Amino acid sequence: MTLQIAQLHAVEILDSRARPTLAVTLTTADGTHVRAGVPSGASTGTREAVELRDGDQARYHGQGVLGAAGNVNGEISQALTGRGFASAADIDRALIELDGTDTKARLGANAIIGVSLAAWRAEAALAGQELWQHLARIAGTTPRLPVPHFNVVNGGVHAPNDLDFQEFMLAPLGAPSLPEAVRAGAEVYARLKARLSAAGYATGLGDEGGFAPAVARPEDVLELLVDAITDAGYTPGPDGVAIALDPAASEFRHEDGYRVAGEDLTSEQLIDRYEQIVDRFPVWSIEDGLGEDDWEGWVRLTERLGGRVQIMGDDIFVTNPAIITEAIGRKVANSALIKVNQIGTVTETLEAMRICREAGYTQMVSHRSGETEDAFIADLATGTGCGQIKSGAPARGERVAKYNRLIAIAESDPALRYGLATG
Ligand code: PGA
Ligand code: ZN
Repeated sequence: MTLQIAQLHAVEILDSRARPTLAVTLTTADGTHVRAGVPSGASTGTREAVELRDGDQARYHGQGVLGAAGNVNGEISQALTGRGFASAADIDRALIELDGTDTKARLGANAIIGVSLAAWRAEAALAGQELWQHLARIAGTTPRLPVPHFNVVNGGVHAPNDLDFQEFMLAPLGAPSLPEAVRAGAEVYARLKARLSAAGYATGLGDEGGFAPAVARPEDVLELLVDAITDAGYTPGPDGVAIALDPAASEFRHEDGYRVAGEDLTSEQLIDRYEQIVDRFPVWSIEDGLGEDDWEGWVRLTERLGGRVQIMGDDIFVTNPAIITEAIGRKVANSALIKVNQIGTVTETLEAMRICREAGYTQMVSHRSGETEDAFIADLATGTGCGQIKSGAPARGERVAKYNRLIAIAESDPALRYGLATG
C-alpha cells in the first residue's frame, strides 16, 4: 500500500479554553479525506516538544498559531504532497527529518502532531480498518478497552481555587465493562455535585470539567470523593470505584521543597504525606507526585510506594522514549502517562509505549487540558491495549467525545476485552 497525500491543509481553530489550536485536513490521492484536532497543555513539562505560537500580542494575546498553520500549508505540504509513502510511520520520519531539531521547535510540535494524527487516520481508512484496529496491527498489540479515569475535582493551574493538587480522578476499577465504568463515573460525579452544593461550595468547573471548590487540603477533597462514591452506591476501592491523583507537583515546587496548602514540605515529607494518603484513602495511582527535576525524590517515592500503588511519570517523562529508558534504568516510577503532543508524532508515541511494555511499566493514554472534539486518543488507548485512559470529567463535549468514542468501539465489537492490562 502506498500513502500518497494529494492535499494537506491546516487552519487555526479554538480549543476548549478559547485558545487557538490547529485543525489539519488531509486528502489522499484516492480521495480519502480525514481531519485531526491538536491538543494543548497548561501544566507542561519543560522537556516537551515545543508548540509554536505566534507571539503577536495583537492577536489572541500572542497565542495565535498562524505560523504553525503556515508551516503545514507551506513547507510541510510541499515536502509531503505528490510523494508516495510506504506508511504513516514513514510520514512521521519525514516530518522529524524536515524539522531537524530535537524538540520540533522549528516547524512546531503542534503542526507536526496535527499532520501525524491525520496521516495515521488516513492510513487506517485506506486499509479499510477502524483506527484502533489499525494501530493494534502496526504496534503488534492486543486491543483492549481502557479503564476511564474521570477527573472530577480540578486544582492547580486548571482551576482558580487554592487547591495545589491538580487532579482527583475516579477510577471505576470494579466495573465489569466500559459502559458500566462510564456510568459509575457519571453517577458519582452527580453525587459529588450534590455533596458540594449541600456543603455550600460553588460547583463551577475547571478546565477539564471537574468541580473547582474552594478546598485547599487534598485530604478534604478525598473525603468528599469517598462520600460521593458511597452516596452513588459504589464501594470505594479496587472492587468498586478507586481514586487516582495527579498532583502535578512541578507546579507547586519551590526551591528545594514543595508548598501544599500553605505548608512547606521537603521531598521526603511529601512522600510521607502520600503514604498517609494511601493508608487512609482508596488511592491506587499517583501521577507526578514529585517535581520533574527531583529524580532522587522519584527514586525514593518509587522505593517506598511503588509496591503498593502505580507511580506514574508525566512531566518528568513527557512521552519521550529516551527519558523513559533512562527512568527505567534508574528505577524511577513504574508507569508512564502518554500524551501524543508531548513528543509530537504517533510513531514516537507508540515507541514510548513499547519501551514501557517491555520494561513492565504500565501506561495511561491522556488528553490535554486544552482539547478539541478529536477522539484519536480513545482509539490509541484501545488499539495499544494499555488498559487506562484519562480524558477529564464525564462532562463537557471535548472530554465526553473520548468516552463516547470508547462506548462506540465497545458497541462495535462485543468481543473486545475491557480493563487494566494484565502482564
Ligand atoms: P496539561 O495537564 O494538559 O495542562 O499539561 C494534564 C496533566 O498534567 O496530566
Ligand atoms: Zn499530569
